[in-house]
Amino acid sequence: MKYMTSDEIREAFLSFFESKGHKRLPSASLIPDDPQLMFTVAGMVPFKPIFWGKVEPVYTRVTTCQKCVRTNDIENVGRTPRHHTFFEMLGNFSFGDYFKKEAIEWAWEFVTKVLEMPEEKLWVTIYEYDDEAFEIWKSIGVPEHKIIRMGKEDNFWGPAGPTGPCGPCSEIHYDTGLEVPVKDGGIPTPANTDGRFIEIWNLVFTEFYQDEEGNLHPLPRKNIDTGAGLERISAMMQGVLWNFDTDLFAPIIERIQNVLNVKYKEDPKKDVSIRVIADHVRAVTFMIADGVLPSNEGRGYVLRRVLRRALRHGVLLGAKEPFLYKIVESVVQKMGHVYPEIVEKRSFVENIVKGEELKFIMNLSRGLELVQKIIETKGKITAEDAFKLYDTYGFPIDILRDIAQENNYELDEKGFEAYLQQQRERSRKAQGEVEFAQKTGYETLEIETVFVGYETMESEGTVVKIRKDNEFVDNIESPEPVQCELVLDVTPFYAEKGGQVSDKGTITWEGGKFEVEYVYNPVEGIIVHRGKLTGKLSVGQKVFSKVDPIRKWTMRNHTATHLLHAALRKVLGTHVRQAGSLVEPERLRFDFTHYQALTKEQITAIEDLVNEVILSAIPVVTEVKSYDEAVKEGAMALFEEKYGDYVRVVKVGNFSEELCGGTHVKNTGEIGLFKIVSESAVSAGVRRIEAITGFNSLAYVRKQDEILENLKDKLEAPINELVMKVEKLIEERKSLERELANLKKKLVNPESVASNVKSWNNVNYVSAVFEEIDPEVLKELTDEVSERIKGVVLLISRLGEKVVFTVKVPKELTNEYHAGNIAKAVAKILGGGGGGSPTFAQAGGKLPQSIPEALEMFEKIIRKEVQ
Ligand code: SER
Repeated sequence: MKYMTSDEIREAFLSFFESKGHKRLPSASLIPDDPQLMFTVAGMVPFKPIFWGKVEPVYTRVTTCQKCVRTNDIENVGRTPRHHTFFEMLGNFSFGDYFKKEAIEWAWEFVTKVLEMPEEKLWVTIYEYDDEAFEIWKSIGVPEHKIIRMGKEDNFWGPAGPTGPCGPCSEIHYDTGLEVPVKDGGIPTPANTDGRFIEIWNLVFTEFYQDEEGNLHPLPRKNIDTGAGLERISAMMQGVLWNFDTDLFAPIIERIQNVLNVKYKEDPKKDVSIRVIADHVRAVTFMIADGVLPSNEGRGYVLRRVLRRALRHGVLLGAKEPFLYKIVESVVQKMGHVYPEIVEKRSFVENIVKGEELKFIMNLSRGLELVQKIIETKGKITAEDAFKLYDTYGFPIDILRDIAQENNYELDEKGFEAYLQQQRERSRKAQGEVEFAQKTGYETLEIETVFVGYETMESEGTVVKIRKDNEFVDNIESPEPVQCELVLDVTPFYAEKGGQVSDKGTITWEGGKFEVEYVYNPVEGIIVHRGKLTGKLSVGQKVFSKVDPIRKWTMRNHTATHLLHAALRKVLGTHVRQAGSLVEPERLRFDFTHYQALTKEQITAIEDLVNEVILSAIPVVTEVKSYDEAVKEGAMALFEEKYGDYVRVVKVGNFSEELCGGTHVKNTGEIGLFKIVSESAVSAGVRRIEAITGFNSLAYVRKQDEILENLKDKLEAPINELVMKVEKLIEERKSLERELANLKKKLVNPESVASNVKSWNNVNYVSAVFEEIDPEVLKELTDEVSERIKGVVLLISRLGEKVVFTVKVPKELTNEYHAGNIAKAVAKILGGGGGGSPTFAQAGGKLPQSIPEALEMFEKIIRKEVQ
């Protein structure tokens, strides 16, 4: 068979399907615009709404090479030839265009004519009842015994998520000829062997939609969704069994060998670690480039686990310092020409990875200390200890095993596994790849609300649904305000979305009133008003809706958020990407990717830029256009959108263009002064800006003014001299403090303290108690008194509710007494702690009422009555 590189295969596939009338589209983001999924798990994911019939396609034939992430089998990665967390899926799709015949014929043509795979090595499987597929395969020359019927388990694909498009499928398998056991003793087939036949292509005949109960319904169109793993095909075309031995991984493994100074294929145990790193570094690079950041929940948690798993294997290979970030470069070099985002985000990715590595390595050393302590106290490592180390510090069990083996300690690995299993169950439940959308009761309704809030803040409408205590009712009546939900046919109320808070306001009619407190979209197309109703209302009633005019404040902040986003990219660079946003009437909050605090100059530059656009009074234009048009124009936030969809673009001259469903001012001039009021860190690599506009800026300026006026009155100085005046006051205060300290010192006379000297067994000692003497003064005094009496001194000072004290033992007496130990004993009585050297100690406490006992203790120590 001929040899083909992965680049050649990818290109051959895409151009083959272009020649069959398909539109070649770039890969969509790994973060799907799909509440049902955490990651893009297949080539079809970006097209789900089209398959589903919710969105009309722009092109009816499409081909892509889609980046995908699946982490459900992460434990197997590195140990088997074909498990990955990140992979590329080649696909051709038909949206109500061609169906089974063409899909099968073209797949066969590509595999046998373009890839030139020998027909005798190819087998196919079909869904057990799919006679149509059987006939098509037969008609193109596949022998009947090589068309294998299989059950739903193997040959029915989807849905991706709890509900959605799915269908029977048919797979092409490649026979590697590997000698493996045959389950039924017959001739080896894909059905009775494991590991010999490699599935290289899956053709899904997407004609059904599966509902919550698992029932299938026909879709409006019959579709095709095919998926072919690039890694597998590359392995077959390069004559290797392991995907890791293809050209896709070679440069990455090469780099791992150099960075970690190890050799691949020398030690099978090390090979697992090398492959884990090679796989995970790809996933990590692509996830971060698409905007996922390490965190303890959702996608960020998955990323963190993948990353830490790679690091753990690095440590097993001997890494003592961050290394993974150095391997990112090899991924960028190998794949950057296909996925330009990883080239653009390379240094950002490296920074984030390195940051996590530094944290992990610290945890690792902290973990090692804990291991030491555990072993010292218990002489073994219990299952609970091992799990805690693993869970809290990410401390690898393998390293624990090494330590235990080297030192002959016991390690309860079985117990550890049990704990781990429990945790896996928990996390599978909590953060499985599929996140279920919350059920609200609105999903099944066939209604739609027309939103008129872009144009107006008041409108007439008719009540379509009334819902109280989770039940739909036709009428409702209450003289007192009662909590319920209303759905209208037409509404100007904006539902919380895209960071913009929901509108508030009133809905009125003859005989009643509804205070709108919160508005939301339980499902696309339905707007629900939640609030309090007074009076009588029935479904069908005509009502009048009025949005609280405070919405104008929100609109100012929303448009200002777009200007801020654009300004950040201009001032800081295009790595800046929105990581979260909150737009409310009082302020805007914008989180974005950037790994350093902003300087004062940068903040000023950003404020200047935004205010310049505001002062230029530029019209804010919104347009609804096709996704492709928006792409061509370079609108921001593209990766979140789905192909073939219609999107709303909000444009401010040439300055900003974003896809957004929010409400905006008509002209930037309406925003008023834009002022940043805070800049801070949210997490590694994410910064947060809070800013204000309009009347809020005015209020802010007034508040600052008021503070200044207040200061002016209090300090009796004109505004421009306030700073000078405060500096002077601070100086004066410092010198007064110095003076006060001197005075206090003068008040306590070492001579008079020394005159109370006592003696026991030829040892001189004295103690005294003062009020409000600072520790520094106390220290000096202790020295002086000790000098005078040539003996041991304890001086105590009461400072409000606290006590401080000093102990001095002259050098000559250190054989007998230890200042630090005396301090410890005294502090214990005074409810505090402390210690010090043999000659001097300082400590404190919080029980001034115990001073008499403390003095007694001192006496006893000197008289050796206590140890
Ligand atoms: N969606 C199918 C799969 O993931 C084919 O593209 O296998």
